[in-house]
Amino acid sequence: MTSATSPAPIPVAKVTRATVARQAPPATLVIFGGGGDLTKRLVVPALYNLVRAGRLADGFSIVGIGRGDADTQSWHHNLRQMIESLAAEGGGEFSSDGIDEEAWDWLARRMTFLTGDFTQPEVYGRLKTVLAEQAAKQVNGNVLFYLAVADKFFGPIIEHLGRAELVRQTAGAWRRVVIEKPFGHDLASARALNAQILGILNEDQIYRIDHFLGKETVQNILVLRFANGIFEPLWNRDHVSHVQITAAETVGVETRGRFYDGTGALRDMVPNHLFQLLAMIAMEPPISFNANDVRAKKTELFCAIHPISPEDAVRGQYGAGRVLGKPVRDYRHEPNVAPDSTTETYVALKLGIDNWRWARVPFYLRTGKYLAARTTEIAIHFRQAPYALFRETPVERLPRNILTLRIQPDEGLSVSFSAKRPGQDIEIDGVAMDFSYSDYFEPLTAVGYETLIYDCLIGDPMLFQRADTVEAAWCAVQPVLDAWAGRPPGDFPNYAAGSSGPDTAARLLAREGHTWLPIGAGPHRRRSR
Ligand code: BG6
Repeated sequence: MTSATSPAPIPVAKVTRATVARQAPPATLVIFGGGGDLTKRLVVPALYNLVRAGRLADGFSIVGIGRGDADTQSWHHNLRQMIESLAAEGGGEFSSDGIDEEAWDWLARRMTFLTGDFTQPEVYGRLKTVLAEQAAKQVNGNVLFYLAVADKFFGPIIEHLGRAELVRQTAGAWRRVVIEKPFGHDLASARALNAQILGILNEDQIYRIDHFLGKETVQNILVLRFANGIFEPLWNRDHVSHVQITAAETVGVETRGRFYDGTGALRDMVPNHLFQLLAMIAMEPPISFNANDVRAKKTELFCAIHPISPEDAVRGQYGAGRVLGKPVRDYRHEPNVAPDSTTETYVALKLGIDNWRWARVPFYLRTGKYLAARTTEIAIHFRQAPYALFRETPVERLPRNILTLRIQPDEGLSVSFSAKRPGQDIEIDGVAMDFSYSDYFEPLTAVGYETLIYDCLIGDPMLFQRADTVEAAWCAVQPVLDAWAGRPPGDFPNYAAGSSGPDTAARLLAREGHTWLPIGAGPHRRRSR
Protein backbone atom coordinates (compact mmCIF):
# COMPACT_ATOMS: atom_id res chain seq x y z
CA MET A 1 0.00 0.00 0.00
CA THR A 2 1.33 3.42 -0.85
CA SER A 3 0.90 6.39 1.36
CA ALA A 4 -0.23 9.84 0.30
CA THR A 5 0.97 11.33 3.58
CA SER A 6 2.22 14.85 3.07
CA PRO A 7 4.52 16.35 5.68
CA ALA A 8 3.47 19.89 4.78
CA PRO A 9 -0.12 20.50 5.86
CA ILE A 10 -2.52 22.10 3.38
CA PRO A 11 -3.42 25.62 4.50
CA VAL A 12 -6.84 25.58 6.10
CA ALA A 13 -8.99 28.15 7.85
CA LYS A 14 -7.96 28.30 11.47
CA VAL A 15 -10.63 28.55 14.11
CA THR A 16 -9.14 29.59 17.41
CA ARG A 17 -10.74 30.53 20.67
CA ALA A 18 -9.75 34.07 21.41
CA THR A 19 -10.66 33.73 25.04
CA VAL A 20 -8.32 34.51 27.91
CA ALA A 21 -7.67 31.42 30.06
CA ARG A 22 -10.65 31.10 32.35
CA GLN A 23 -9.55 30.59 35.94
CA ALA A 24 -11.21 28.01 38.10
CA PRO A 25 -12.81 29.46 41.24
CA PRO A 26 -10.72 29.38 44.43
CA ALA A 27 -10.89 26.05 46.22
CA THR A 28 -8.97 23.69 48.48
CA LEU A 29 -7.98 20.38 46.94
CA VAL A 30 -7.75 17.66 49.58
CA ILE A 31 -5.84 14.63 48.31
CA PHE A 32 -6.34 11.36 50.16
CA GLY A 33 -3.29 9.29 49.29
CA GLY A 34 -1.16 12.42 49.22
CA GLY A 35 2.06 10.41 49.42
CA GLY A 36 1.02 7.92 46.74
CA ASP A 37 2.18 7.33 43.22
CA LEU A 38 -0.87 8.78 41.49
CA THR A 39 -0.50 12.07 43.38
CA LYS A 40 3.18 12.29 42.57
CA ARG A 41 3.11 11.19 38.94
CA LEU A 42 -0.16 12.70 37.75
CA VAL A 43 -2.18 14.91 40.10
CA VAL A 44 0.53 17.32 41.25
CA PRO A 45 2.27 17.52 37.84
CA ALA A 46 -1.16 18.31 36.33
CA LEU A 47 -1.66 21.06 38.92
CA TYR A 48 1.76 22.47 38.11
CA ASN A 49 0.79 22.58 34.42
CA LEU A 50 -2.50 24.28 35.33
CA VAL A 51 -0.55 26.92 37.26
CA ARG A 52 1.63 27.51 34.21
CA ALA A 53 -1.48 27.82 32.05
CA GLY A 54 -2.90 30.42 34.46
CA ARG A 55 -5.94 28.29 35.27
CA LEU A 56 -5.76 28.29 39.08
CA ALA A 57 -6.98 31.22 41.15
CA ASP A 58 -4.97 32.87 43.89
CA GLY A 59 -7.18 31.35 46.56
CA PHE A 60 -6.26 27.80 45.54
CA SER A 61 -4.65 25.50 48.11
CA ILE A 62 -3.78 21.83 48.53
CA VAL A 63 -3.97 19.59 51.56
CA GLY A 64 -2.37 16.15 51.24
CA ILE A 65 -3.39 13.39 53.64
CA GLY A 66 -1.38 10.23 54.06
CA ARG A 67 0.10 7.77 56.45
CA GLY A 68 3.79 7.57 57.35
CA ASP A 69 6.01 10.20 58.82
CA ALA A 70 5.95 12.77 56.03
CA ASP A 71 5.44 16.42 56.91
CA THR A 72 4.72 19.39 54.69
CA GLN A 73 8.38 20.00 54.01
CA SER A 74 9.30 16.45 53.05
CA TRP A 75 6.13 16.26 50.95
CA HIS A 76 7.20 19.35 48.99
CA HIS A 77 10.61 17.86 48.55
CA ASN A 78 9.28 14.55 47.14
CA LEU A 79 6.84 16.23 44.82
CA ARG A 80 9.44 18.65 43.55
CA GLN A 81 11.81 15.78 42.79
CA MET A 82 9.09 14.19 40.69
CA ILE A 83 8.45 17.41 38.76
CA GLU A 84 12.19 17.75 38.22
CA SER A 85 12.47 14.22 36.88
CA LEU A 86 9.48 14.73 34.57
CA ALA A 87 10.96 17.98 33.32
CA ALA A 88 14.30 16.25 32.75
CA GLU A 89 12.59 13.44 30.80
CA GLY A 90 10.74 16.03 28.70
CA GLY A 91 8.98 14.45 25.73
CA GLY A 92 5.32 14.63 24.86
CA GLU A 93 4.01 14.56 28.40
CA PHE A 94 6.03 17.25 30.07
CA SER A 95 7.96 20.34 29.24
CA SER A 96 11.65 19.68 28.81
CA ASP A 97 12.72 23.28 29.32
CA GLY A 98 13.47 22.80 33.02
CA ILE A 99 11.33 23.48 36.03
CA ASP A 100 9.37 26.74 36.08
CA GLU A 101 10.43 28.03 39.53
CA GLU A 102 7.74 30.65 39.71
CA ALA A 103 4.99 28.12 39.00
CA TRP A 104 6.44 25.60 41.42
CA ASP A 105 6.78 28.18 44.22
CA TRP A 106 3.22 29.33 43.62
CA LEU A 107 2.05 25.76 44.16
CA ALA A 108 4.44 24.85 46.97
CA ARG A 109 3.36 27.88 49.04
CA ARG A 110 -0.17 26.55 48.99
CA MET A 111 0.59 22.99 50.16
CA THR A 112 -0.02 21.47 53.57
CA PHE A 113 0.44 17.83 54.55
CA LEU A 114 -1.61 16.11 57.24
CA THR A 115 -0.24 12.85 58.55
CA GLY A 116 -2.94 10.49 59.60
CA ASP A 117 -4.87 7.32 59.06
CA PHE A 118 -7.86 8.13 56.88
CA THR A 119 -9.69 5.03 58.10
CA GLN A 120 -9.91 6.68 61.55
CA PRO A 121 -12.18 9.60 62.52
CA GLU A 122 -9.41 11.57 64.22
CA VAL A 123 -7.81 12.90 61.03
CA TYR A 124 -11.16 14.27 59.82
CA GLY A 125 -11.36 16.49 62.91
CA ARG A 126 -7.96 17.97 62.10
CA LEU A 127 -8.93 18.31 58.45
CA LYS A 128 -12.01 20.25 59.47
CA THR A 129 -9.89 22.75 61.38
CA VAL A 130 -7.49 23.19 58.44
CA LEU A 131 -10.39 23.66 56.02
CA ALA A 132 -12.03 26.23 58.28
CA GLU A 133 -8.77 28.21 58.33
CA GLN A 134 -8.43 27.99 54.55
CA ALA A 135 -12.07 28.97 54.05
CA ALA A 136 -11.56 32.08 56.16
CA LYS A 137 -8.57 33.05 54.00
CA GLN A 138 -10.30 32.36 50.70
CA VAL A 139 -13.67 33.83 51.63
CA ASN A 140 -15.48 30.86 50.07
CA GLY A 141 -15.25 27.28 51.33
CA ASN A 142 -15.08 25.28 48.10
CA VAL A 143 -13.43 21.90 48.62
CA LEU A 144 -12.56 19.18 46.14
CA PHE A 145 -11.78 15.87 47.85
CA TYR A 146 -9.63 13.66 45.63
CA LEU A 147 -9.59 9.95 46.51
CA ALA A 148 -6.22 8.84 45.12
CA VAL A 149 -6.36 5.67 47.19
CA ALA A 150 -7.10 1.96 46.70
CA ASP A 151 -10.75 1.34 45.82
CA LYS A 152 -11.53 -0.40 49.12
CA PHE A 153 -11.19 3.00 50.81
CA PHE A 154 -13.65 4.91 48.58
CA GLY A 155 -16.75 4.02 50.60
CA PRO A 156 -15.17 4.37 54.07
CA ILE A 157 -13.57 7.77 53.32
CA ILE A 158 -16.86 9.17 52.01
CA GLU A 159 -18.63 7.80 55.11
CA HIS A 160 -16.11 9.61 57.30
CA LEU A 161 -16.46 12.83 55.29
CA GLY A 162 -20.23 12.58 55.71
CA ARG A 163 -20.06 11.95 59.46
CA ALA A 164 -17.65 14.86 59.94
CA GLU A 165 -20.05 17.05 57.93
CA LEU A 166 -17.32 17.90 55.49
CA VAL A 167 -19.39 17.34 52.35
CA ARG A 168 -22.32 19.51 53.32
CA GLN A 169 -22.68 22.32 50.77
CA THR A 170 -23.67 25.79 51.84
CA ALA A 171 -24.78 28.69 49.71
CA GLY A 172 -21.84 29.70 47.56
CA ALA A 173 -19.52 26.91 48.71
CA TRP A 174 -19.43 23.57 46.97
CA ARG A 175 -18.03 20.24 48.15
CA ARG A 176 -17.12 17.67 45.45
CA VAL A 177 -15.46 14.26 45.50
CA VAL A 178 -13.26 12.77 42.78
CA ILE A 179 -13.20 8.99 42.70
CA GLU A 180 -10.49 7.14 40.85
CA LYS A 181 -10.87 3.82 39.09
CA PRO A 182 -11.77 0.99 39.64
CA PHE A 183 -15.35 1.85 40.45
CA GLY A 184 -16.49 -1.61 41.57
CA HIS A 185 -15.20 -4.93 40.28
CA ASP A 186 -18.52 -6.19 38.91
CA LEU A 187 -22.12 -5.05 38.61
CA ALA A 188 -23.10 -5.91 42.18
CA SER A 189 -20.15 -4.12 43.78
CA ALA A 190 -20.56 -1.04 41.54
CA ARG A 191 -24.23 -0.88 42.53
CA ALA A 192 -23.36 -1.27 46.21
CA LEU A 193 -20.72 1.48 46.04
CA ASN A 194 -23.11 3.82 44.24
CA ALA A 195 -25.79 3.15 46.84
CA GLN A 196 -23.33 3.75 49.69
CA ILE A 197 -21.95 7.06 48.39
CA LEU A 198 -25.29 8.35 47.10
CA GLY A 199 -26.55 8.03 50.66
CA ILE A 200 -24.07 10.78 51.58
CA LEU A 201 -23.48 12.82 48.41
CA ASN A 202 -25.68 14.08 45.61
CA GLU A 203 -24.83 12.75 42.16
CA ASP A 204 -23.69 16.22 41.09
CA GLN A 205 -21.03 16.19 43.84
CA ILE A 206 -19.43 13.00 42.49
CA TYR A 207 -16.75 12.97 39.78
CA ARG A 208 -15.91 9.37 38.77
CA ILE A 209 -12.71 9.58 36.74
CA ASP A 210 -11.79 7.62 33.66
CA HIS A 211 -8.42 8.98 32.61
CA PHE A 212 -9.00 8.02 28.94
CA LEU A 213 -11.40 10.95 28.78
CA GLY A 214 -8.52 13.26 29.69
CA LYS A 215 -6.83 12.35 26.40
CA GLU A 216 -7.14 15.07 23.77
CA THR A 217 -7.63 12.52 21.01
CA VAL A 218 -10.55 10.92 22.82
CA GLN A 219 -12.24 14.28 23.32
CA ASN A 220 -11.59 15.00 19.65
CA ILE A 221 -13.82 12.10 18.58
CA LEU A 222 -16.87 14.20 19.43
CA VAL A 223 -15.49 17.11 17.42
CA LEU A 224 -14.71 14.83 14.50
CA ARG A 225 -18.23 13.45 14.50
CA PHE A 226 -20.28 16.48 15.38
CA ALA A 227 -18.33 19.46 14.04
CA ASN A 228 -17.96 17.99 10.53
CA GLY A 229 -20.65 17.30 7.99
CA ILE A 230 -18.91 14.60 5.98
CA PHE A 231 -18.68 11.75 8.48
CA GLU A 232 -22.05 11.46 10.18
CA PRO A 233 -24.02 10.45 7.02
CA LEU A 234 -21.73 7.41 6.74
CA TRP A 235 -21.87 6.60 10.44
CA ASN A 236 -24.34 3.70 10.44
CA ARG A 237 -25.06 0.11 9.45
CA ASP A 238 -25.63 1.02 5.77
CA HIS A 239 -22.01 2.06 5.34
CA VAL A 240 -20.00 0.54 8.19
CA SER A 241 -19.06 -3.13 7.96
CA HIS A 242 -17.50 -3.38 11.40
CA VAL A 243 -15.42 -1.44 13.95
CA GLN A 244 -12.18 -2.49 15.65
CA ILE A 245 -11.09 -0.86 18.91
CA THR A 246 -7.59 -1.72 20.08
CA ALA A 247 -5.64 -0.77 23.21
CA ALA A 248 -2.38 -2.69 22.91
CA GLU A 249 0.35 -2.20 25.50
CA THR A 250 4.01 -3.08 25.52
CA VAL A 251 4.17 -3.04 29.31
CA GLY A 252 3.57 -6.15 31.36
CA VAL A 253 2.06 -6.23 34.81
CA GLU A 254 5.21 -4.59 36.25
CA THR A 255 4.97 -4.00 40.01
CA ARG A 256 1.17 -4.21 40.10
CA GLY A 257 0.87 -8.00 40.41
CA ARG A 258 -1.10 -7.89 43.64
CA PHE A 259 -3.77 -5.62 42.16
CA TYR A 260 -3.73 -7.05 38.66
CA ASP A 261 -3.92 -10.73 39.56
CA GLY A 262 -7.23 -10.12 41.27
CA THR A 263 -8.46 -7.92 38.43
CA GLY A 264 -7.43 -9.04 34.95
CA ALA A 265 -7.58 -7.30 31.59
CA LEU A 266 -11.37 -7.37 31.23
CA ARG A 267 -12.11 -5.51 34.47
CA ASP A 268 -9.02 -3.31 34.20
CA MET A 269 -9.67 -1.95 30.70
CA VAL A 270 -13.02 -2.87 29.15
CA PRO A 271 -16.04 -1.45 31.04
CA ASN A 272 -14.07 1.75 31.58
CA HIS A 273 -11.46 2.77 29.01
CA LEU A 274 -12.51 0.73 25.97
CA PHE A 275 -16.17 1.46 26.59
CA GLN A 276 -15.40 5.19 26.68
CA LEU A 277 -13.90 4.87 23.20
CA LEU A 278 -16.89 2.81 22.13
CA ALA A 279 -19.31 5.41 23.48
CA MET A 280 -17.59 8.29 21.72
CA ILE A 281 -17.70 6.42 18.42
CA ALA A 282 -21.12 4.81 18.64
CA MET A 283 -23.42 6.99 20.76
CA GLU A 284 -26.25 8.94 19.17
CA PRO A 285 -25.76 12.69 18.71
CA PRO A 286 -26.66 14.41 21.99
CA ILE A 287 -29.22 17.21 21.82
CA SER A 288 -26.67 19.62 23.31
CA PHE A 289 -23.08 19.71 24.50
CA ASN A 290 -24.33 19.78 28.05
CA ALA A 291 -22.88 17.17 30.43
CA ASN A 292 -26.14 15.44 31.15
CA ASP A 293 -27.21 15.25 27.52
CA VAL A 294 -23.88 13.72 26.52
CA ARG A 295 -23.84 11.31 29.46
CA ALA A 296 -27.41 10.24 28.77
CA LYS A 297 -26.42 9.19 25.23
CA LYS A 298 -23.47 7.21 26.53
CA THR A 299 -25.61 5.39 29.04
CA GLU A 300 -28.21 4.65 26.40
CA LEU A 301 -25.49 3.14 24.21
CA PHE A 302 -24.22 0.87 26.99
CA CYS A 303 -27.77 -0.23 27.70
CA ALA A 304 -28.11 -1.17 24.00
CA ILE A 305 -25.15 -3.58 24.09
CA HIS A 306 -26.50 -7.03 23.36
CA PRO A 307 -25.74 -9.48 26.21
CA ILE A 308 -22.28 -10.77 25.30
CA SER A 309 -22.22 -14.49 24.69
CA PRO A 310 -19.17 -16.34 26.10
CA GLU A 311 -18.40 -17.52 22.52
CA ASP A 312 -17.81 -13.89 21.62
CA ALA A 313 -15.19 -13.39 24.33
CA VAL A 314 -11.56 -14.51 24.11
CA ARG A 315 -9.02 -14.35 26.92
CA GLY A 316 -5.28 -14.78 26.95
CA GLN A 317 -2.31 -14.73 29.29
CA TYR A 318 1.23 -13.92 28.24
CA GLY A 319 4.01 -16.45 28.30
CA ALA A 320 7.70 -15.57 28.12
CA GLY A 321 8.86 -13.76 24.99
CA ARG A 322 10.60 -10.67 23.67
CA VAL A 323 9.06 -7.22 23.88
CA LEU A 324 10.68 -4.31 22.07
CA GLY A 325 13.79 -6.43 21.66
CA LYS A 326 14.14 -7.44 25.32
CA PRO A 327 13.45 -10.88 26.79
CA VAL A 328 10.64 -10.89 29.37
CA ARG A 329 9.30 -13.53 31.74
CA ASP A 330 5.84 -15.10 31.65
CA TYR A 331 2.96 -13.64 33.66
CA ARG A 332 2.90 -16.47 36.21
CA HIS A 333 6.47 -15.61 37.25
CA GLU A 334 5.76 -11.91 37.79
CA PRO A 335 6.05 -10.65 41.40
CA ASN A 336 2.89 -11.15 43.50
CA VAL A 337 1.21 -13.27 40.84
CA ALA A 338 0.03 -16.80 41.68
CA PRO A 339 2.18 -19.45 39.96
CA ASP A 340 -0.99 -21.11 38.63
CA SER A 341 -2.85 -17.86 37.96
CA THR A 342 -5.79 -17.99 35.55
CA THR A 343 -6.02 -14.20 35.32
CA GLU A 344 -6.23 -12.89 31.77
CA THR A 345 -3.75 -10.30 30.51
CA TYR A 346 -5.50 -10.11 27.13
CA VAL A 347 -9.13 -9.90 26.18
CA ALA A 348 -10.97 -9.63 22.86
CA LEU A 349 -14.73 -9.27 22.54
CA LYS A 350 -17.31 -9.04 19.82
CA LEU A 351 -20.15 -6.71 20.75
CA GLY A 352 -23.47 -6.13 19.07
CA ILE A 353 -25.44 -2.93 19.62
CA ASP A 354 -29.17 -3.31 19.53
CA ASN A 355 -30.32 -0.07 17.98
CA TRP A 356 -31.31 1.17 14.51
CA ARG A 357 -27.96 2.73 13.74
CA TRP A 358 -25.78 -0.28 14.53
CA ALA A 359 -27.95 -3.39 14.11
CA ARG A 360 -25.76 -6.25 12.80
CA VAL A 361 -22.53 -4.18 12.82
CA PRO A 362 -19.97 -6.05 14.96
CA PHE A 363 -17.76 -3.98 17.26
CA TYR A 364 -14.55 -5.85 18.06
CA LEU A 365 -12.60 -4.75 21.14
CA ARG A 366 -9.18 -6.02 22.18
CA THR A 367 -6.62 -5.07 24.78
CA GLY A 368 -3.61 -6.76 26.27
CA LYS A 369 -0.31 -6.44 28.05
CA TYR A 370 3.05 -7.24 26.44
CA LEU A 371 1.84 -7.06 22.87
CA ALA A 372 3.84 -6.34 19.73
CA ALA A 373 3.46 -2.54 19.86
CA ARG A 374 1.90 0.19 21.96
CA THR A 375 -1.11 1.52 20.16
CA THR A 376 -4.61 2.65 20.99
CA GLU A 377 -6.78 3.14 17.95
CA ILE A 378 -10.27 2.85 16.55
CA ALA A 379 -10.65 1.57 13.00
CA ILE A 380 -13.97 1.98 11.24
CA HIS A 381 -14.14 -0.43 8.33
CA PHE A 382 -16.56 0.65 5.64
CA ARG A 383 -18.51 -1.63 3.34
CA GLN A 384 -17.10 -2.58 -0.03
CA ALA A 385 -18.22 -0.89 -3.23
CA PRO A 386 -21.39 -2.72 -4.29
CA TYR A 387 -20.08 -4.41 -7.44
CA ALA A 388 -16.87 -5.02 -9.39
CA LEU A 389 -16.71 -2.45 -12.12
CA PHE A 390 -13.03 -2.89 -12.79
CA ARG A 391 -12.17 -6.01 -14.78
CA GLU A 392 -9.65 -8.36 -13.17
CA THR A 393 -10.15 -6.64 -9.83
CA PRO A 394 -12.91 -8.49 -8.01
CA VAL A 395 -14.60 -6.31 -5.47
CA GLU A 396 -13.52 -8.62 -2.64
CA ARG A 397 -9.91 -7.84 -3.47
CA LEU A 398 -10.30 -4.09 -3.54
CA PRO A 399 -8.56 -2.39 -0.64
CA ARG A 400 -10.92 -1.49 2.17
CA ASN A 401 -11.97 2.02 3.11
CA ILE A 402 -10.90 2.35 6.71
CA LEU A 403 -11.09 5.44 8.89
CA THR A 404 -8.51 5.00 11.64
CA LEU A 405 -8.48 7.27 14.68
CA ARG A 406 -5.09 7.02 16.33
CA ILE A 407 -5.61 7.79 20.01
CA GLN A 408 -1.99 7.22 21.08
CA PRO A 409 0.91 7.39 20.38
CA ASP A 410 1.37 9.18 17.03
CA GLU A 411 -2.00 10.89 17.49
CA GLY A 412 -3.95 11.49 14.33
CA LEU A 413 -6.38 10.10 11.84
CA SER A 414 -6.16 8.43 8.47
CA VAL A 415 -8.53 7.39 5.71
CA SER A 416 -7.51 4.58 3.42
CA PHE A 417 -9.04 4.25 -0.03
CA SER A 418 -8.32 2.95 -3.54
CA ALA A 419 -6.37 4.78 -6.20
CA LYS A 420 -5.25 3.96 -9.70
CA ARG A 421 -1.62 3.03 -9.93
CA PRO A 422 -0.06 5.25 -12.63
CA GLY A 423 0.38 3.39 -15.94
CA GLN A 424 -1.47 2.09 -18.98
CA ASP A 425 -3.32 -0.66 -17.13
CA ILE A 426 -6.05 -0.14 -14.58
CA GLU A 427 -4.34 -1.33 -11.45
CA ILE A 428 -5.82 -0.41 -8.15
CA ASP A 429 -3.80 0.15 -5.04
CA GLY A 430 -4.59 1.13 -1.46
CA VAL A 431 -3.46 4.58 -0.34
CA ALA A 432 -4.13 6.71 2.71
CA MET A 433 -4.74 10.34 3.60
CA ASP A 434 -3.23 11.12 6.92
CA PHE A 435 -3.66 13.81 9.54
CA SER A 436 -1.18 14.02 12.40
CA TYR A 437 -1.75 16.30 15.34
CA SER A 438 1.91 17.20 15.35
CA ASP A 439 1.67 18.63 11.79
CA TYR A 440 -0.94 21.16 12.85
CA PHE A 441 -0.66 21.85 16.55
CA GLU A 442 2.04 22.68 19.04
CA PRO A 443 2.57 19.76 21.42
CA LEU A 444 0.71 20.30 24.67
CA THR A 445 2.59 19.99 27.92
CA ALA A 446 0.22 17.71 29.78
CA VAL A 447 0.11 14.54 31.83
CA GLY A 448 -3.54 13.97 30.89
CA TYR A 449 -5.16 15.00 34.20
CA GLU A 450 -5.15 18.76 33.63
CA THR A 451 -8.54 19.02 31.92
CA LEU A 452 -10.08 16.51 34.32
CA ILE A 453 -8.99 18.40 37.46
CA TYR A 454 -9.87 21.76 35.94
CA ASP A 455 -13.34 20.47 35.00
CA CYS A 456 -13.94 19.32 38.60
CA LEU A 457 -13.02 22.79 39.81
CA ILE A 458 -15.34 24.56 37.37
CA GLY A 459 -18.09 21.99 37.97
CA ASP A 460 -18.32 20.47 34.49
CA PRO A 461 -18.99 16.73 34.83
CA MET A 462 -19.12 15.99 31.07
CA LEU A 463 -15.95 13.86 31.14
CA PHE A 464 -16.97 11.93 34.28
CA GLN A 465 -19.07 8.84 34.75
CA ARG A 466 -22.55 9.03 36.13
CA ALA A 467 -23.83 6.27 38.44
CA ASP A 468 -26.11 4.82 35.77
CA THR A 469 -23.36 4.89 33.11
CA VAL A 470 -20.97 2.91 35.30
CA GLU A 471 -23.65 0.36 36.16
CA ALA A 472 -24.74 -0.02 32.52
CA ALA A 473 -21.12 -0.71 31.53
CA TRP A 474 -20.69 -3.38 34.22
CA CYS A 475 -24.04 -4.86 33.25
CA ALA A 476 -22.78 -5.32 29.67
CA VAL A 477 -19.65 -7.28 30.67
CA GLN A 478 -21.19 -9.20 33.58
CA PRO A 479 -22.20 -12.25 31.44
CA VAL A 480 -18.54 -12.72 30.47
CA LEU A 481 -17.32 -12.33 34.05
CA ASP A 482 -19.85 -14.96 35.12
CA ALA A 483 -18.95 -17.36 32.33
CA TRP A 484 -15.23 -17.06 33.00
CA ALA A 485 -15.63 -17.43 36.76
CA GLY A 486 -17.19 -20.85 36.25
CA ARG A 487 -14.85 -22.03 33.51
CA PRO A 488 -11.10 -21.70 34.14
CA PRO A 489 -9.02 -21.46 30.96
CA GLY A 490 -7.23 -24.69 30.20
CA ASP A 491 -4.53 -23.33 27.92
CA PHE A 492 -2.79 -20.45 29.76
CA PRO A 493 -0.30 -19.03 28.88
CA ASN A 494 -1.59 -18.89 25.32
CA TYR A 495 0.32 -16.05 23.69
CA ALA A 496 3.97 -15.14 23.68
CA ALA A 497 4.94 -11.76 25.08
CA GLY A 498 5.65 -9.48 22.13
CA SER A 499 3.12 -11.17 19.82
CA SER A 500 -0.32 -9.98 18.68
CA GLY A 501 -2.20 -12.05 21.25
CA PRO A 502 -3.77 -15.51 21.21
CA ASP A 503 -4.80 -17.21 17.94
CA THR A 504 -8.35 -17.52 19.23
CA ALA A 505 -8.68 -13.74 18.90
CA ALA A 506 -8.02 -13.98 15.16
CA ARG A 507 -10.66 -16.70 14.89
CA LEU A 508 -13.23 -14.43 16.55
CA LEU A 509 -13.10 -12.19 13.47
CA ALA A 510 -12.34 -14.88 10.88
CA ARG A 511 -15.77 -16.42 11.64
CA GLU A 512 -17.33 -13.43 9.92
CA GLY A 513 -14.70 -12.95 7.23
CA HIS A 514 -12.90 -10.12 9.02
CA THR A 515 -9.27 -9.69 10.08
CA TRP A 516 -7.69 -7.58 12.81
CA LEU A 517 -5.50 -4.76 11.57
CA PRO A 518 -1.89 -5.59 12.45
CA ILE A 519 -1.03 -4.14 15.86
CA GLY A 520 1.00 -0.97 15.46
CA ALA A 521 0.79 -0.88 11.68
CA GLY A 522 -2.41 0.95 10.80
CA PRO A 523 -3.35 1.39 7.14
CA HIS A 524 -1.68 4.78 7.02
CA ARG A 525 1.71 3.23 7.65
CA ARG A 526 1.53 0.36 5.18
CA ARG A 527 3.39 0.81 1.92
CA SER A 528 3.68 -1.55 -1.02
CA ARG A 529 6.79 0.00 -2.48
C1 BG6 B 1 -5.00 1.90 33.66
C2 BG6 B 1 -4.86 0.41 33.81
O1 BG6 B 1 -6.26 2.32 34.09
O2 BG6 B 1 -4.81 2.25 32.30
C3 BG6 B 1 -3.49 -0.04 33.34
O3 BG6 B 1 -5.04 0.06 35.18
C4 BG6 B 1 -3.24 0.43 31.92
O4 BG6 B 1 -3.35 -1.44 33.43
C5 BG6 B 1 -3.53 1.92 31.79
O5 BG6 B 1 -1.88 0.16 31.62
C6 BG6 B 1 -3.48 2.34 30.35
O6 BG6 B 1 -3.56 3.74 30.27
P1 BG6 B 1 -2.70 4.56 29.22
O7 BG6 B 1 -3.12 5.97 29.42
O8 BG6 B 1 -1.25 4.29 29.56
O9 BG6 B 1 -3.05 4.00 27.88
